[in-house]
Amino acid sequence: MRLSFSLIILIVHFLVSLSMFYLILAASSSVVQPLCHDDERFALLQFKESFFINQSASEDPSAYAKVSSWKPDQISDCCKWDGVECNKDTGHVIALDLSSSCLKGFLNSNSSLFHLAHLQNLNLADNDFTSSPIPATFRQLSRLTNLNLSASVFSGQIPSEILELSKLVFLDLSNNLLLKLQKSGLTVIAQNFTNLEVLSLDQVDISSNVPNILANLTSLTSLSLIECDLHGEFPVGIFHLPNLQRLHIGINKDLTGCVPELNRTSPLVLLRLGSTNFYGEIPDSIGNLKFLVQLTACFCNFSGEIPSSLGNLTNLSLLDLQSNRLQGSIPQSISRLVNLDTLFLNDNYLCGTVEFELFLRLRNLINLQLSRNNISLLTKPSINSTFAKFSVLYLVDCDLGEFPEFLKNQDQLELLDLGGNKIHGQVPKWMWNVSIETLCALYLDDNFLTGFDQLPVVLPYINLRHLTLDSNMLQGSLPIPPPSISLYSVSNNNLTGKISHLICNLSSITGLYLSINNLGGLLPQCLGNLSGSLSLDLHGNNFHGTIPRICGEASKLMMIDFSQNHLQGRVPRSLANCAKLEAVNLGNNQIHDIFPSWLGILPELRILILRSNELYGTIGSSDSNFDFPKLHIIDLSNNDLIGKLPFEHFQNWKAMQIFDFESSKYVEENQTLVTIGGDYLTHSYSYSMTMIKKGTETLYDKVPDFLVVIDLSNNKFEGEIPDMVGNLKGLNMLNLSSNFLTGPIPVTLANLTGLEALDLSQNKLSGAIPLQLTVLTFLSYFNVSHNRLTGPIPHGKQFDTFDNSLFSENPELCGNPLPKKCGNPEDSLPPFSSRNLDQFSFEFGWKVVAMGYGVGFVFGAVSGQILITKKYGWFMKTFSIGQPNRRRVNWRGRKN
Ligand SMILES: *[C@@H]1O[C@H](CO)[C@@H](O)[C@H](O)[C@H]1NC(C)=O
Ligand SMILES: *[C@@H]1O[C@H](CO)[C@@H](O)[C@H](O)[C@H]1NC(C)=O
Ligand SMILES: *[C@@H]1O[C@H](CO)[C@@H](O)[C@H](O)[C@H]1NC(C)=O
Ligand SMILES: *[C@@H]1O[C@H](CO)[C@@H](O)[C@H](O)[C@H]1NC(C)=O
Ligand SMILES: *[C@@H]1O[C@H](CO)[C@@H](O)[C@H](O)[C@H]1NC(C)=O
Ligand SMILES: *[C@@H]1O[C@H](CO)[C@@H](O)[C@H](O)[C@H]1NC(C)=O
Ligand SMILES: *[C@@H]1O[C@H](CO)[C@@H](O)[C@H](O)[C@H]1NC(C)=O
Ligand SMILES: *[C@@H]1O[C@H](CO)[C@@H](O)[C@H](O)[C@H]1NC(C)=O
Ligand SMILES: *[C@@H]1O[C@H](CO)[C@@H](O)[C@H](O)[C@H]1NC(C)=O
Repeated sequence: MRLSFSLIILIVHFLVSLSMFYLILAASSSVVQPLCHDDERFALLQFKESFFINQSASEDPSAYAKVSSWKPDQISDCCKWDGVECNKDTGHVIALDLSSSCLKGFLNSNSSLFHLAHLQNLNLADNDFTSSPIPATFRQLSRLTNLNLSASVFSGQIPSEILELSKLVFLDLSNNLLLKLQKSGLTVIAQNFTNLEVLSLDQVDISSNVPNILANLTSLTSLSLIECDLHGEFPVGIFHLPNLQRLHIGINKDLTGCVPELNRTSPLVLLRLGSTNFYGEIPDSIGNLKFLVQLTACFCNFSGEIPSSLGNLTNLSLLDLQSNRLQGSIPQSISRLVNLDTLFLNDNYLCGTVEFELFLRLRNLINLQLSRNNISLLTKPSINSTFAKFSVLYLVDCDLGEFPEFLKNQDQLELLDLGGNKIHGQVPKWMWNVSIETLCALYLDDNFLTGFDQLPVVLPYINLRHLTLDSNMLQGSLPIPPPSISLYSVSNNNLTGKISHLICNLSSITGLYLSINNLGGLLPQCLGNLSGSLSLDLHGNNFHGTIPRICGEASKLMMIDFSQNHLQGRVPRSLANCAKLEAVNLGNNQIHDIFPSWLGILPELRILILRSNELYGTIGSSDSNFDFPKLHIIDLSNNDLIGKLPFEHFQNWKAMQIFDFESSKYVEENQTLVTIGGDYLTHSYSYSMTMIKKGTETLYDKVPDFLVVIDLSNNKFEGEIPDMVGNLKGLNMLNLSSNFLTGPIPVTLANLTGLEALDLSQNKLSGAIPLQLTVLTFLSYFNVSHNRLTGPIPHGKQFDTFDNSLFSENPELCGNPLPKKCGNPEDSLPPFSSRNLDQFSFEFGWKVVAMGYGVGFVFGAVSGQILITKKYGWFMKTFSIGQPNRRRVNWRGRKN
C-alpha cells in the first residue's frame, strides 16, 4: 500500500518534469520559428470566411477543404495551417496553396487576401470563384513569384496590374473559359516578366498573334497556349529557346507556322502542335530532339514524308501525326522507338507495303492507328514472341485481304477496327478465342466476309458493346452478340432465316440495325421489350405477319424503320407509348388500316412514312389532341385513301407552317457506349434518305432539319385543293399527283416561298396556271401534266426552265414550252412581278441550302446512318489534342 503510494508520487513527479521539459522545448522552438503575425492570421481567417465550402467547386477527386483546419482561436499558429507557409525568420506568410480546396464564392477586390503582402507563392487553382474578375488589387502582392489561378472560374479581362508583377517566374491562368487577355498582353508579358519560366494561358481568349518578343524569354521552360484563338505565324525563335522543355500550342486553328531546323542543344521534352494550321515538312532535324517524349502534330497541314530520323527519338512514348497530308512510306526506323506506347499515323496519304511485324516488334505499343492511308499491310504469321499487346487497334482501309493471324496472340484488345479491308472468306474460328474478356468494340464492316467458321450460339466476347458487320456478304443465320451489346449492325448482307429468340436477351441494346438482308419469318414479340433501344432498323427484309407491340413503358425508342418487308395488319397501337419517337417508316408493306391520326399524340414525331401500303378510308377531320406538333415529313403515297384532301387536319400541323426550324433540330442522341483508355465512343443516328434528283436516286446522309414534305400522291383523293394549302409556309415539296382532284390551282400556293417541287400531275384540275406562281423562285420542279388546265403558261424566272413534258396532256394549255401557240395577246404579257421575295431567301439562308439539295427531288425511303464519334477523354485532351474522330457505318457502304 505504502509502496504503491510512493510509486504514484514518483509517477506524478515524472509527469510534471516531463511537461516542464516540453514547455521549455516549446518556448525554445518559438524562438527558432516565430508564431504567425496576428494581422495575417486575421486576414487568412477573413479570407476563409468569405467563401463557402462546396465539394463540387473543385474537380480534382482528391480535393478537400484545406481551410477547415484553420481555427480562429488566439494561440493557433497560422504558419502551421494546412496550405500556409511562413518565412522561418520573420513569420510572415509567404506561400498559400489553396488549390483544389473546394472554395466557392466571389473574390472581392478588397479581399483580405491582399493584406498578405509578403506572399511569394499563391496557388488558388481548381476552385470556383463564380466568374469573379481577377481583382486589380493583386498589384499589392508585389513579391509574387508564383501565381496559379488556373481552372478557378475567373472571368473578364486579365487586369494589367497582374502584368506588372514583375517578379513572376510562374504564371498559370489557364482553363478559365471566360478570361480574356488584352491584345498586347503577350507582348507586355514578354517585356515585364523577363525571368518567366512557366507561362500557361490555356483557354484564355487571347485572339492575337504570338509576338516575336516572346522568344526573348530565355528562361522559359514551359509555354502552354492551348485553345487561345491565336492567329498569324508562330515565331520560329520560340522553338530555339534554350531552356524550353514543353511547348504546347494545340487547338489554335488559325495559327500557322513551320517547324524550323532544330539542333542538338534543344531540351524539348513535349512538343504539341495538334489542331493548328502548321504546315510544311517535318524537318529531318526533328531527330535531334533527343529528350522528346511526346510529339503531337495531328490535325495540321503537314506535308512531305515522315523523316526517318524520328527513329532516333528513342524516348518517344507518344507520336501522333494523324490527319495531315503526309506522303511516302512509313520509315523502318520507327522500329527503334521501343518506348512508344501510342502511334497514330491514320488519315494521311502514306503509301506502300508495310510489314506489320514492324509494329509488333514495339513491345510497349498498345495503341495503334493506321487507318485511311494508301498502305497495304502485310501480316504474315510471325515467329517472334515479343509481340506488342494492343489495346486499341484501328486498321481501317489497310488492304489486309484476310484475317490477320497475329490477332491470335492478342489477349488485351479493347477495340479492333478492321473495316474496309477487303477481307475475304469466313471469320476464322480462332477469332472466338481472341481477347474475349477485354474486347469492347469490334468493327468488321465493309469487307467481303461470307460467314463464320463454327459460329457460336452467342458470340463469346463478354464485354462487347459495339459490333458492326454491315456491308459484307454474310450468309446464314443472324449472329447473336452477347447481352452486353449496345450497338449491333449487320445491315447489307445476305443473312437468312428467322431472328433467334435469343435477341430478347440483348437488354442493353440501343441500336439494332438488320436492314437489307433476307431475314424472314415473324418479328420476335420481344422486340418491344428492348425498351432501351433508340433505333430499330429492319428495313429491306422478308419479315411478314403483324408488327409486335413496340413500346413498353418509358421507351427511349427514337426511330423505327420496318419498311420494305411484307408486314401486315394494323399500325400497332402501342406506338402511341413511344414518347421519344422521331421517325416511323413502315412504307412498302401490306399494312391494312385507316390513317393513324392517333400518332399525332407523339410530341417528337417528325417523320411519318406509310407509303405503298393498304391504308384506306378518309382522313377524318382534325382532332386537336392529335396535332403532330413537330411533323415535317409525311408520305402517304400509293395507298387507297379517299375523300377530300386532309388540309383541315394540316391546319394543326404547326411545324409545317413556319419557315425557320432552328429550334427543332433532329436529335442526335449521344449514348456513351464504349470507354477505352478514358476516351468515349458515342453512337448517334441520323436520318438519311433517298431522293430522286434529276431521275437518279441519291442518298442524302442527313435529312436536312428544315425539310418539309407532303406526299399524298397516288391515292383516290377528290375535290378541290383548298386555299388553306397556302398556310403551310414551310413546305418544300408537295406531291398531290395521281388523284381525282378537280377545280383550279389555288393562287395561295404562291405563298409557299420555300417550295422546291410541286407535282399536281395526273388529276382533273382546270382553269389557268396562276401567274403568281412565277414568284416561287426556288421552284425547280413543277408538274401539271395530265390535267384539264387552260390558257397560257406563265413565263419568267423558273418557269422558263421547265421542260414541256411537265405541261403535256392539257389540251387547252398553250404557249412556251408547248408547241401550241396561244394566238392571244396575253401570251406576250410581261412576266408577273411580285412583292419582294429576294428578301425572303436572304433572311432564311434558304438559297444556299436549296442549291445543296437541288433540283426536282422525290422523297423516298428514310433510312439511317450510324455515326460513331470518338470523344477524346482526359488522355487525348491532355496529351494529344485533336478533334472528335468520326466513324461512319452506313449500309450503302463506307463514305470516303
Ligand atoms: C529581344 O532580344 C533581342 C536579342 O537579344 C534584342 O535585340 C531585342 O531588343 C529584344 N527585344 C526587346 C523588346 O527587348
Ligand atoms: C543551336 O541553336 C541555338 C539557338 O538557336 C544556337 O545558339 C546554337 O548555336 C545552335 N547550336 C548548333 C550546334 O547549331
Ligand atoms: C496547307 O498548306 C499548303 C501549303 O503547304 C497551303 O497551300 C494550303 O492552303 C494549306 N491548307 C490549309 C487548309 O490551310
Ligand atoms: C539519326 O537518324 C538518321 C536517319 O535515320 C541517321 O542517319 C543518324 O545517324 C541518326 N543519328 C543518331 C545520333 O542516331
Ligand atoms: C483459347 O485460348 C486458351 C488460352 O489462351 C487456350 O487454352 C485454348 O486452347 C484456346 N481455345 C481454342 C479453341 O483455340
Ligand atoms: C438469355 O437470358 C436468360 C435470362 O436472362 C438466361 O437464362 C439465358 O441463359 C440467356 N441465354 C443465353 C444464350 O445467354
Ligand atoms: C416483355 O416484357 C413483359 C413485361 O415486362 C413480359 O411480360 C413479356 O413476357 C416480355 N415478352 C417477351 C417476349 O420477352
Ligand atoms: C451529340 O454529339 C454531336 C456531335 O458531337 C453534338 O453536336 C451534339 O450537340 C450532341 N448532342 C447532345 C444531345 O449531346
Ligand atoms: C409524285 O408522286 C408520283 C406518284 O407517287 C411520282 O410518280 C412522282 O415522281 C412524284 N413527283 C415528285 C416530284 O416527287
